[in-house]
Amino acid sequence: MNITSISILLLLVLFVLFLGCNCSNVSYDRKSLLINGHRRILISGSIHYPRSTPQMWEDLIWKAKHGGLDVIDTYVFWDVHEPSPGNYNFEGRYDLVRFIKTVQKVGLYANLRIGPYVCAEWNFGGIPVWLKYVPGISFRTDNGPFKAAMQGFTQKIVQMMKSEKLFQSQGGPIILSQIENEYGPERRAMGAAGHAYLNWAANMAVGLGTGVPWVMCKENDAPDPVINSCNGFYCDNFSPNKPFKPSLWTESWSGWFTDFGGPIPQRPVQDLAFAVARFVQKGGSYVNYYMYHGGTNFGRSAGGPFITTSYDYDAPIDEYGLIRQPKYNHLKDLHKAIKRCEHALVSSDPTVTSLGTLQQAHVFSAGTAECAAFLANYHEQSAATVIFNNRHYELPPWSISILPDCRTSVFNTAKVRSQTSVVKMLTVNPRFSWETYDEDLSSLDESSRITAARLLEHLNVTRDTSDYLWYITSVDISSSESFLRGGHKPSINVQSAGHAVHVFVNGKFSGSAFGTRKQRSCTFNGPVNLHAGTNKIALLSATVGLPNVGRHYETWETGITGPVLLHGLDHGPKDLTHNKWSYQVGLKGEALNLVSFDGVSSVDWVQDSLATRSRSQLKWHKAYFNAPEGNEPLALDMEGMGKGQVWINGQSIGRYWLAYAKGDCNSCSYSGTFKPVKCQLGCGQPTQRWYHVPRSWLKPTNNLIIVFEELGGNPWKISLVKRTVHTAGVRD
Ligand code: GAL
Repeated sequence: MNITSISILLLLVLFVLFLGCNCSNVSYDRKSLLINGHRRILISGSIHYPRSTPQMWEDLIWKAKHGGLDVIDTYVFWDVHEPSPGNYNFEGRYDLVRFIKTVQKVGLYANLRIGPYVCAEWNFGGIPVWLKYVPGISFRTDNGPFKAAMQGFTQKIVQMMKSEKLFQSQGGPIILSQIENEYGPERRAMGAAGHAYLNWAANMAVGLGTGVPWVMCKENDAPDPVINSCNGFYCDNFSPNKPFKPSLWTESWSGWFTDFGGPIPQRPVQDLAFAVARFVQKGGSYVNYYMYHGGTNFGRSAGGPFITTSYDYDAPIDEYGLIRQPKYNHLKDLHKAIKRCEHALVSSDPTVTSLGTLQQAHVFSAGTAECAAFLANYHEQSAATVIFNNRHYELPPWSISILPDCRTSVFNTAKVRSQTSVVKMLTVNPRFSWETYDEDLSSLDESSRITAARLLEHLNVTRDTSDYLWYITSVDISSSESFLRGGHKPSINVQSAGHAVHVFVNGKFSGSAFGTRKQRSCTFNGPVNLHAGTNKIALLSATVGLPNVGRHYETWETGITGPVLLHGLDHGPKDLTHNKWSYQVGLKGEALNLVSFDGVSSVDWVQDSLATRSRSQLKWHKAYFNAPEGNEPLALDMEGMGKGQVWINGQSIGRYWLAYAKGDCNSCSYSGTFKPVKCQLGCGQPTQRWYHVPRSWLKPTNNLIIVFEELGGNPWKISLVKRTVHTAGVRD
């Protein structure tokens, strides 16, 4: 073999290898991301893998594809993957590789937002709680222990993706990755340390050599080559920090999250479509809907505090995986219209002309043959007739028309042609046959092993292994005490930094206090029945999701911080703050693992009937049921209950709370340039009444449902319902 034939052979081998790999480079220029050298307009949607089940993933991703999406975006949730240092979990809902491979199977790209701080209304912003207890740690700043842990996890995820060949540079679907999340505001507050951390994070990420670009959202100082991107309801005022970077919108908020006790926000699709078209007409080339499917905060994964178990988000695919109209179809039509302009959009910069005081044309021409135009009317109330290229166009208020050939308007953001979904929750199991077990308060002080002569911070004791922490003390009262001074009973005052507290005196429930999303702390003040001798005070402190955002939220205090005072006694107030307190982490029922088939028989359950219902406050309820026929999504209607948690076959459906929505339930209104057209609904109703039960968690028969109820609610009102959605006349 001569030199020429050897080189030809080598070239052939390389060619075959290249074909076999199907690898492409992802790069960028000022117009867009480039995949395999081609500029692209990309439409993306967030679907967070732990917020649905693996059985739902493929269907969700297909629906996203049919809705005109090119990319699926997900955060990576560190806390669920590393529940204790060095112990990893990538099973079931946490099977990240399976999720990304499903994206690949369906034929879409992926944006992997590693964070690993993610915000996301997720418990502790996705950072494992144990990290708070690493000596000398400080989150998200120039701090050795934090950086070491963050680097370790980021490397692990990148390595995992690489070994499965999931980056586009290896032939996989991942075209983009994110490091950190909305660090800009933090950096500004943290000064030099913030800046050093920012640069470190960018270098660390880039050094991992993924072969695809990195983004930092809401971080104007993102160092090159990292792309800074925009998050918001509108992003048309956004420009990247360097002229050679493209305009990417990593969070186009399709709706908003809900908190227990708050109204339900909705974002009309007309406004969302308008915002997206406005971004694209300015040269934006990547839009990600946050969320495209919001899903469910199963277990104790909701952050906040006070974020609901539902993370529906008013997204184009609803919490249960069903298409939400007209949002889904209207956006699908928008995507089609934008895609018809793709070549013109990525090949030229717009020529902007005025068509009136508040009307403009953005025209993209590629060569002589190609021309696409966006005609905008920014007036919030009035329609406008404009003349463009000698033709008349009617533009509804606050709208953009898209003309892929500069002549025919194929889409207007305000003209919704799709019909609206009609959702029904049909009862299939009107009633369960309940048995009950009262949470055992009698053994509280004996079982307690942790004691201190002060009030301990809640999380320091529980390390978030449970929502619940008992604070127990006793107080001796002399027999000379009068317990009805001036006709009034003594009272107890308990101050908690959050999020909820239930007060028991001598085994009797005295009352509760709850914080809210705006005001985490709460104070209980109420009369108590004391007697001469030793009185036992037991305070049950409960968290409702750990904070996921806020400056150094890892240092915020939770639980009963004091003071704890008894008022109305003869010798003046008694301060119990520095008493001897004993502590019990979690509930007895949790310790016995009552929620599982193995643990359920460890206590004596009693038949519960309305007639025999005891007045005790903290109760476990158990029932068995068969799975309903069909394949419609299922939910528990928890009406009649108070607050607690629910499990089916040992899987946690999540926290429930029938807190009634208070606040502003205006009709929808335009609120100017910085706020979206926003509707708030549901005031006077529980913020969340229905709780998603994934079909795949059920067996045909003998399913175990366990409810832990904190407020003495009535389980006989709980029912199982099917969710159905009808849309008459919806086009494909
Ligand atoms: C963003 C954040 C997201 C999510 C969103 C609100 O600022 O990046 O993770 O928290 O707000 O839903």
